Amino acid sequence: MLRKSAALVLSIAGFCCVLYSQTQPVDSEGHQWWQHAVFYEIYPRSFMDSNGDGIGDLPGIDSKLDYLKSLGVDAIWITPCYPSPQVDFGYDVSNYEDIDAMYGTLADFDRLEQAAKQRGIRIIMDFVMNHTSDQHPWFVDSRSSRTATKRDWYMWHDGKAPGLPPNNWISTFGGSAWTFDAKTGQFYYHYFYPQQPDLNWHNPAVHEAMFDATRWWYKRGVAGFRLDAVDTLFEDPELRDNPVLPGLNKYGDPKEQDLYNTKLPEVHDVLRDLRKVADEHNAVLIGETWTKDVNELKQYYGEHNNELQMPMDFMFTKVDKLSPPEFRRQIAAVDSAGGWPVFVLSNHDIVRSYVRYGDGQHNQAIAKLMASLYLTLRGTPIMYYGEEIGMENNDPVRKEDVKDPIGRVGWPQEKGRDGERTPMQWDDSPNAGFTRGTPWLPIPPSYKTVNVASELKDPSSILQVYRSLLKLRHQNQALLEGDYVALNENDPNVLSYLRRYKNEAVLVVLNMSSQPQEVSFDLAPQSFAAKSARTLLTSMPPGSKESALSHLSLEPFSFYIAAVSK
Ligand code: NOJ
Repeated sequence: MLRKSAALVLSIAGFCCVLYSQTQPVDSEGHQWWQHAVFYEIYPRSFMDSNGDGIGDLPGIDSKLDYLKSLGVDAIWITPCYPSPQVDFGYDVSNYEDIDAMYGTLADFDRLEQAAKQRGIRIIMDFVMNHTSDQHPWFVDSRSSRTATKRDWYMWHDGKAPGLPPNNWISTFGGSAWTFDAKTGQFYYHYFYPQQPDLNWHNPAVHEAMFDATRWWYKRGVAGFRLDAVDTLFEDPELRDNPVLPGLNKYGDPKEQDLYNTKLPEVHDVLRDLRKVADEHNAVLIGETWTKDVNELKQYYGEHNNELQMPMDFMFTKVDKLSPPEFRRQIAAVDSAGGWPVFVLSNHDIVRSYVRYGDGQHNQAIAKLMASLYLTLRGTPIMYYGEEIGMENNDPVRKEDVKDPIGRVGWPQEKGRDGERTPMQWDDSPNAGFTRGTPWLPIPPSYKTVNVASELKDPSSILQVYRSLLKLRHQNQALLEGDYVALNENDPNVLSYLRRYKNEAVLVVLNMSSQPQEVSFDLAPQSFAAKSARTLLTSMPPGSKESALSHLSLEPFSFYIAAVSK
């Protein structure tokens, strides 16, 4: 009896402990740390090289933590820096519990983690769940024989007929998703490159091994994971052919609807389980979730908000035009999804936002406009290194210069992702201060002016706008906590909204057109009787601190952010 009650006390204590770690709010609204944080993606090959080999590394990141802190970054997501043959530049992992020598050592990681912690910056690792490298010992064992211990850790199948793959699934990186392995006379499945065989998530041993890898990093102090390619974890056990669509894709393969090899419902079981482990560590899970609409996005939060806290919403990477109606529609959809919105402008797979939105003439103003959009919305922004200084894409011009394999397969339609992964531009010294060696990717000549050191000196730079915006969003209650209310919804040129919290609100006005605009606001329906607003931040020349809400003049591509009171 005594033993039973002791066990009960222990289990209640354990339960409370888990509950406590799940719910450590940072404000009276019950928000968690990641809801107040600004995340920053670092592509480690390209951030800062400390040893002159032309490739960035962990000590390099360490040396730039003060910069990140002063910028206003709270968490860095480091794309894979585990041991890897680098076929997909780290997204082909050959050991989940180590650091690749090109980036440093585990001791470097621990130092980085400590140094970041001292500055209040958390570290998020990238977790490549869908596949490993073909050099991972698991796959080496798996391919060694049909009876190997880890044979069913991957997806091995017989062909449909001699010489034919098991079905018509194509790899998103070109060609069939099946590769024949002569040694054992079967095909293995890979959604990405042949060097990235898919793990078999139906196998509980895979589940356990991968979950243990997350625990291993939590113990080392990481604050969460960005989950790579979660959409593709499971495949139809019957291997049914995907429906074929008209036309060919950029690799010359028939277009397909990925019906039987993406977004299968079992993904959510894994995410719920991963979340339980994350909750034990007060950690956050960010998803690389390519959702086509808000209903798909909703599913990733989980029915009881028990899956991903931060499924990334990529809509801003798709609305490639400055269209207030389109942004309004998308923001409203994400805002109503029931979870915490996550906004992304750029990443290592997408052409940089500076180029996507820029019109070639007003790119600087447009970059500031876009920053003031996604850094003032309700939700958590994930920045991409270099975006804060207006780095452009530097795409290869010759096929022989391409490093990213998809750029060689798909040339010239698909030039690969080198352009958005070029080294961070720190100053105007040779190689932009990134390396004393030869950088692994070329740096565009514009680095002479587009660099951190120069922009820190220039009060009107893109970097200064980012710094001011981040400072504001960390201090302003309405920006941290407030709801999102769309204003003037029929205006085709100016996107405006309120962030409303108790008696305070922030008004955000964004002129997305190349023409001056006049706008006026009646905030009475939002219970704000104020007739004027107090300027907090604007790209327009300093004028009076108060502006009348009945008449606001906006310069082309300008932003205006102001406080209004009841
Ligand atoms: C998504 C990553 O962002 C991308 O860079 C990578 O190539 C694929 N997943 C495969 O891991």
